[in-house]
Amino acid sequence: MKIIIDSPEKIAAIAAERYVTLLNKKPNAVLGLATGSTPLGLYAKLAELYNEKKISFDKVTSFNLDEYVGLDGNHDQSYRYFMNTNLFDKVNIRKNATFVPSGLGDVDANAKNYEEMIAAAGGIDLQLLGLGQNGHIGFNEPGTPLDSLTHKIELTANTREANARFFASLSDVPTHAISMGIKTVMNAKSIILIALGENKADAVAKSVNGKIDTMVPASVLQLHPDVTFYLDEAAASKL
Ligand code: F6R
Repeated sequence: MKIIIDSPEKIAAIAAERYVTLLNKKPNAVLGLATGSTPLGLYAKLAELYNEKKISFDKVTSFNLDEYVGLDGNHDQSYRYFMNTNLFDKVNIRKNATFVPSGLGDVDANAKNYEEMIAAAGGIDLQLLGLGQNGHIGFNEPGTPLDSLTHKIELTANTREANARFFASLSDVPTHAISMGIKTVMNAKSIILIALGENKADAVAKSVNGKIDTMVPASVLQLHPDVTFYLDEAAASKL
């Protein structure tokens, strides 16, 4: 596991360079993408690099980590909407090659189908992760089995409260999500985790230095051969 500590601005720039390098080498790479506040700086940087003609997404396929159950892609808190507005609409990615798991209809069938689509695309080359305050990755809450594939999950009170800031009230936050599993994430060839801010410091310390424990899902990343944590000073303060 590699660890890079810098300012949030530099982290966005350094992480963006990973994409420039990857897409130069493999223009049709398969990207695993994340939502939340953490990747916003990176996505802004990628859009900037695209405008400067330093990166092209025209052959990229992408798979997002997760989506809320019950929200369609036009809902402004759906992760599909987030991805369209914060990245996909700003670069030259083919919209029909961007996939976000669907939380509508038969979610279990959607989950199985999602795994098959990832496999058919050749697997994920570079998976981006944020980190929950409770150590979750994707929506894999503490206790999620290490061999989990894409599945429906009940969100913890902690996660719903953390995400309530994006909704009118806590009761509007969906109770369930569909998420890539821990095994899906671990199957990616390379992994980038970005964590910013003091409120991530405990989870970072447990994930990096703690024992591998399903109660801290990100701790399993210690077992991956190619994972880099990009941290600001605050998130790294308990290492
Ligand atoms: C989002 C996701 C979540 C977030 C995590 C951190 O697709 O999978 O695991 O990465 O909840 O969220 P922020 O970045 O808002 O602190």
